[in-house]
Amino acid sequence: MLQDIVEYLACPHCGQPLALADGGGPLHCPARHTFDVARQGYANLLPGDAHTGTGDTAAMVAARQEFLGAGHYAPIAAALAGAVPRDSDCVADLGAGTGYYLAAVLEALPQARGLALDISKFALRRAARSHPRTGAVVCDAWRPLPLRDRSVSAVLNVFAPRNGPEIRRVLRPGGTLLVVAPTPRHLGELVGELGLLGVDDRKQERLSATLGPHLEYQGSSEHTFPMLLDHPAVRTVVDMGPSAWHTDPAELDRRIAALPLPAPVTASVTLSAFTRS
Ligand SMILES: C[S@@+](CC[C@H](N)C(=O)[O-])C[C@H]1O[C@@H](n2cnc3c(N)ncnc32)[C@H](O)[C@@H]1O
Ligand SMILES: [Zn+2]
Repeated sequence: MLQDIVEYLACPHCGQPLALADGGGPLHCPARHTFDVARQGYANLLPGDAHTGTGDTAAMVAARQEFLGAGHYAPIAAALAGAVPRDSDCVADLGAGTGYYLAAVLEALPQARGLALDISKFALRRAARSHPRTGAVVCDAWRPLPLRDRSVSAVLNVFAPRNGPEIRRVLRPGGTLLVVAPTPRHLGELVGELGLLGVDDRKQERLSATLGPHLEYQGSSEHTFPMLLDHPAVRTVVDMGPSAWHTDPAELDRRIAALPLPAPVTASVTLSAFTRS
């Protein structure tokens, strides 16, 4: 619920604490900047000049919900839930999408509250309902995050944009960042057969280079597992990813129909941990 996370929120214009008006209504700061709370339960803390073009579309979000809901990436959720420090009482998920991974982490932390941050309102409509202890906030990962300094105990970042200086600012000293990123083998069978965008093999290096100056790298584990997907599930995994922007739908269906049934597809990610000293 949004009420549960207001104490972590800061005004995107002036950085002062936000509060909810008595009896609900908009969020406001002492300088009287106000922000709407959508009837679906998420707050919009984007500055007025924001560009939301990189956010997931309604169709991508629907595909993501379907694929994650079928449990195909459950091992990734389990790895995150196992890696989050047990004493975390507030977990922010940057680029949270539908809130699927944050919900799994909150299930492992019975006292913690969760903040789902994303630029896509389509994603946050779902995230706002994804777990009773999650509150959802529209914001841009590349602008100052609408969170108070040193306010959260852990940050999750799963296949999503990451802003090292801002993650450092909002983490408490000793707090943890968990990053999930694909390895070059991720969905490898589909990259070749369907002409999808591949993962470049220096992604892990870039991850360390962008976060290293701001946070202390603690280590990584690789999580690689086989999936057996029917053809609609293959279409769904394509539709939820970046290739959805680039591929002709009729050609894609033709190529999917030519895949074995079920199609063996590899999921392969690294889970990297960083701490704020
Ligand atoms: C590949 S999806 C991953 C979503 C979720 N973490 C998951 O794995 O299910 C990337 C997410 O980043 C969000 N996103 C893209 N650009 C963003 C930005 N500038 N600020 C915040 N979120 C952004 C998208 O809307 C999308 O939900
Ligand atoms: Zn303000």
